[in-house]
Amino acid sequence: MLQLSTIDPVKSKLKALIIPVAKDKSLFSDQKLTAFIKKIKAFKEFTGTENDIITYYDSRDVKAQRVFFMGMGKAGEIDGERLRTMGGRAVKKAMSLDLTEIAVLIPSSKNLNLNQEDTMAAIGEGARLANHQFTRYKKPKHSPLKRIKLIFNTTSRAKYRALIAKVNTVCEGTLLARDWINTPANDKPPAIFARDITRVAQKAGLKVDVYDERWLKKKGFGSMLAVAQGSRNRPRLLVLRHQPKGAKNTVALIGKGVTFDTGGINLKPTGSIETMKCDMSGAAAVAATLITAARRKLNTQLVGVIPIVENMPSGNAIRPGDIVRSWSGKTVEIGNTDAEGRLILTDVMAWAIDTFSPKITIDMATLTGACVVALGENIAGIFSPDDKLADALIRAGNDAHERCWRMPLPDDYKAQLKSPVADLSNTGTTRWGGAITAALFLSEFVKDTRWAHVDIAGPAFLKKGNSYGEAGATGFGVRLMYRLLETI
Ligand code: BES
Ligand code: MN
Ligand code: ZN
Repeated sequence: MLQLSTIDPVKSKLKALIIPVAKDKSLFSDQKLTAFIKKIKAFKEFTGTENDIITYYDSRDVKAQRVFFMGMGKAGEIDGERLRTMGGRAVKKAMSLDLTEIAVLIPSSKNLNLNQEDTMAAIGEGARLANHQFTRYKKPKHSPLKRIKLIFNTTSRAKYRALIAKVNTVCEGTLLARDWINTPANDKPPAIFARDITRVAQKAGLKVDVYDERWLKKKGFGSMLAVAQGSRNRPRLLVLRHQPKGAKNTVALIGKGVTFDTGGINLKPTGSIETMKCDMSGAAAVAATLITAARRKLNTQLVGVIPIVENMPSGNAIRPGDIVRSWSGKTVEIGNTDAEGRLILTDVMAWAIDTFSPKITIDMATLTGACVVALGENIAGIFSPDDKLADALIRAGNDAHERCWRMPLPDDYKAQLKSPVADLSNTGTTRWGGAITAALFLSEFVKDTRWAHVDIAGPAFLKKGNSYGEAGATGFGVRLMYRLLETI
């Protein structure tokens, strides 16, 4: 859908040409274009201020039917995120006019603080991500564009074509995750969600294993099964493998897959429960990352381990005070049935580390409301004893604008997880620092691997849409993980 185009923007008969305009400097070296932009800026109503858009019709300066001039603010302040926003806004504007394609002029990097590749990738990303809607239950007012052309005159066409193809595939991974997360819990009980992932994963070339309750019982996944037991919808454990030839070290990605989190017997109140279909966002991000890696033939060996359960209250549900035996052998007292994520994650994480001996293990989870309190809705928490891994995640997050902030793992806080009757309690003694005690609980089950935990409870699901995403699931984590995998 995204494609490189080397047409002459002045002479081509286009339905819609998109021209980004900075407040101060020209973003293009072409003289005719620069003169055209100057003419537009002579109008009082358009100065190139960030987020301004003006439409110009049937101009003699270009052959395009209409031109959207996109205000970008000062040239020196333009970063990847501003370019993504511009790409997204251009697509949304074109969709609202029922256009079927646009052509975006890619600024030359001359007056920008970004290189040409990053400029191209960011605009492509914003445009591709905006060009999608969740349509399973409601007819959309407008359709997505059929084509988004990125106009850039270059002699290295192959290089930019390859870059754009990658951006397109990674964005499609994000959109896949978004659709899974936006699907309501009644249409994604564990068996169905596992099947839906399996279909896409196998087509992408991943090896897929789906384990059912009998297998989990036999193998002793006691704490995952404890969470699952309250629901009529039986659990699944999904294992996805990407095994390129020659690749040695394995990276394990673990994703929390709670298809709905009622809280269990510690039922969530109104105000906290409504959006809990998003509690499988870690699972969706991990699955979509592996699918993206397979589609891209990424040269790193990956295993995705995804426990899928529904957390429900019922006559069969676990109770506070119950004690369960986890896969690792450690016993856990249930302090709160709503702290279910750590129970399913630790069981499968201990098993995955033992089974696959990964060099690196990263888990992604909508784990705690406390992390949202700490970092807000747009930044994920990183918890890791490994400085290098934490830094790599933060850097990948900055590049993708899926921002991450490192949080501490203080040893002495572990005392809060003590239980008088079991090896551990699944909740801390106070509600303060809840994101940290949750991460410390996970750390108790990690051995012989470099490990990081990413708490995405904030950024996974947003009430309000933005310039390249609708309200609801963001698909947070796919672009972050993919970038990380490219760099480690
Ligand atoms: N799924 C929730 C965390 C969550 C909160 C995700 C907000 C997305 C948005 C998690 O299972 C949970 O309920 N955590 C509890 C833990 C507590 C009982 C120790 C929480 O954060 O309140
Ligand atoms: Mn919960
Ligand atoms: Zn949860």
